[in-house]
Amino acid sequence: MPETNVVKLMERDYFLKVYADRDFLMFEYYNSCGFQLKIGVNPFSRLGFGAMVWEAALGLCQYFEKEEIRFSDKKVIELGAGTGILSILVALLGGDVTITDKSELLKLIKRNVSYNIPSSLKPQVHVSALHWGHNHTLFPLDYDYILCSDIMYFHYNIPLILKTLLHLCSKKTIIYFASTMSYSQNVTRLGYVTLSQYFQTELVCRYDVKDVNVYRMIPNTPPTVQLDNL
Ligand SMILES: C[S@@+](CC[C@H](N)C(=O)[O-])C[C@H]1O[C@@H](n2cnc3c(N)ncnc32)[C@H](O)[C@@H]1O
Repeated sequence: MPETNVVKLMERDYFLKVYADRDFLMFEYYNSCGFQLKIGVNPFSRLGFGAMVWEAALGLCQYFEKEEIRFSDKKVIELGAGTGILSILVALLGGDVTITDKSELLKLIKRNVSYNIPSSLKPQVHVSALHWGHNHTLFPLDYDYILCSDIMYFHYNIPLILKTLLHLCSKKTIIYFASTMSYSQNVTRLGYVTLSQYFQTELVCRYDVKDVNVYRMIPNTPPTVQLDNL
């Protein structure tokens, strides 16, 4: 028999139902990089996709643990952060993080930050509304890392995500972009084909069981595009 080498994707340890809470239906508990993360979720809320933890976020948490990536003194921004789980881990690993999503998700993110981030680290956690392709120019251009997990599933969002990434990236920026490839498969694949025209893109990790790919991207030098042309 050939030896199988299937890397499992981390899963929640357990969950607690808290029906009484208007924001959260339950708390999910995850272990990553030596931290226990307590994440409030509400899969049935009007907040939609963002109010639950997606597999690609777990894929990136697990990848950071495996590669022992630390974020001390690094400036990080996450797009479409949902519950905020990934950025919360990155803040615990020392990063100065800007956690972004649509404005309606910010309350959920702020609550999850308050459950997980000790007061000594709060000054390095910022929660802001960033709507792709609309207010991205209000954000600076000096991030060391940009994080994206399971955000590329609608066709019309591809140019908006690209425009946002091109604005936020400088020469030093590394993007970690993870996706569940089978979810909205054609859009996701088209999205990566599009992004790879503008960024050097490398598949650095794959979780077969959940069909999650983790890509590392750096900007092409010289840049391939004028922002005005997008
Ligand atoms: C499938 S969820 C993924 C959430 C989180 N990244 C994760 O992996 O658990 C997609 C996220 O993208 C956000 N989103 C969708 N369209 C957006 C837009 N135009 N601008 C900013 N965020 C957006 C949603 O609110 C949601 O939180």
